[in-house]
Order: sequence, then structure tokens, then C-alpha cells
Amino acid sequence: MSGLVHLGIIMDGNGRWAKMRNLPRVAGHLEGLKSLKKVIKGCIDEEIRYLTVYCFSTENWKRPASEVNYLMALFTNKVYGEIKAISSLGVQVRLLGNRSALPEAALKALDRTREETKNNDKLILQLAINYGGHDEIVRAVNSLIKDGIKEVSAELIRSRFDNPDIPPVDFIVRSAGEERLSNFLLFDSAYSELGFYDKLWPDWDEDMIKTVKQDFLKRTRRFGGLT
Ligand code: IPE
Ligand code: IPE
Ligand code: MG
Repeated sequence: MSGLVHLGIIMDGNGRWAKMRNLPRVAGHLEGLKSLKKVIKGCIDEEIRYLTVYCFSTENWKRPASEVNYLMALFTNKVYGEIKAISSLGVQVRLLGNRSALPEAALKALDRTREETKNNDKLILQLAINYGGHDEIVRAVNSLIKDGIKEVSAELIRSRFDNPDIPPVDFIVRSAGEERLSNFLLFDSAYSELGFYDKLWPDWDEDMIKTVKQDFLKRTRRFGGLT
């Protein structure tokens, strides 16, 4: 039985959480950030080495500007704002996604966070921001074309991803009941296990990670072979 090395989370249901409380949608995003902190601790407790969280998709620009701006402000202020706590836990922060449309201030804060946490190795946290599975593959292929490469392979494509040193995701879980990937980790999810949970993202905590890990350990992975 292999352990859970890389967990991916589609953090969904912030808007519904807020709506149930007659709060503006963005209140759900702020509460979701608190869940993320608890979940990071849970991952460290469960000895999960890589955590990739879906924060903003390449499709989320379709939302009202006020919501998009609020989320961009969270990425700008709250990530670097937590640098002390992040570092004391031994978390290394990486950005996964297309930098081109992100505000300069957000990029600066994320790059600074990456730089200041680069020697931490307890948990590698990938923040998927302006991330899309299609965009990831297209950017990789275009970078190969730019280098004059005439024929690609799966390995070559993957080598041009943002963080090719991070192993493929073992388990992708999604909160809030929707059963779809919504363009998350399309290439690396080829053989990952999938788990869908009804609990809304702002209600997740350390204990949910215990449940998630137990659920994963019950799965039998075959990768196309036989057990
Ligand atoms: C997930 O929560 C967070 C982001 C996509 C940024 P949602 O905002 O999608 O919440 P629901 O799905 O509307 O409840
Ligand atoms: C996926 O959630 C993106 C993130 C969690 C950041 P969405 O709420 O955007 O996905 P759909 O629109 O329900 O598929
Ligand atoms: Mg949603």
C-alpha cells in the first residue's frame, strides 16, 4: 500500500457557504482561507508531502469584477501576510498557473513568498492561481515549439510545466458536492484517485484531512496493470 504523497484539492463551495448565512460571496472566500490554514496543518500532521490547492481557474475571470478583485487582493495580501506562520510550519510555497494575466502586485507577493520559503521542505504547497489544465499543456507545448522541437512526448511536455519536479497528484478531492475537475490538473490526473465530499470548503478542517487520507488508503491503484 503506497502512502498519500501528493494531495490536490478543488476548494469549492465558498459562495454557497456565504449565501446560506446571508453574507456576500466574498465572505465565503475569507472563511475559506481559514480552512486552508487548518488543512495545511492537517496535511503536515498526516505527513502529506505535496499539497496543490485550486485557488483561481483560468475560467474564474468570468465572475463579477468585484469578486475577482477581492480574490486577487487576498492572493496579494494574505499569502505574504502569513509568511511567518507559513515558515514556522516548514511550508514551501510555489505558484502554479499562468502569470500573464495576474496583477503585478499579486505576482510580487507570491514571488517573495516563494523566495522566502524556498528552503522549507516539510510541505510543498502549490497555489494554483490563474491555473487551467488546458493552459498548462498549451503553454508547455508552445515553449517546446519555440525551442524548435518538432516532436513531443508526454515526458517532454511535462518537463515544461511550471513545477516539473513535483510528482503527479495521487488523490484529487473536491469539496461542496460537485463531481467534476473544472480544468484542474488534467495531465497529471491521468491515474490519480478522485474523491468528492459534500462538505463546503469553509467547513473543512484538520479532521477532514484525516478522513481524506483514510479514504485514499482504501483505494487499490493499478495504473493499467494487475494487482
Ligand atoms: C470556490 O468557491 C472558490 C473559487 C472558485 C475561487 P466558489 O466561489 O466557486 O463557491 P460556490 O461554488 O459558488 O459555492
Ligand atoms: C473550480 O471551481 C475552481 C476553483 C475551485 C478555484 P468553480 O466553482 O469555478 O467550478 P465550476 O464552475 O463549478 O465548474
Ligand atoms: Mg464553485
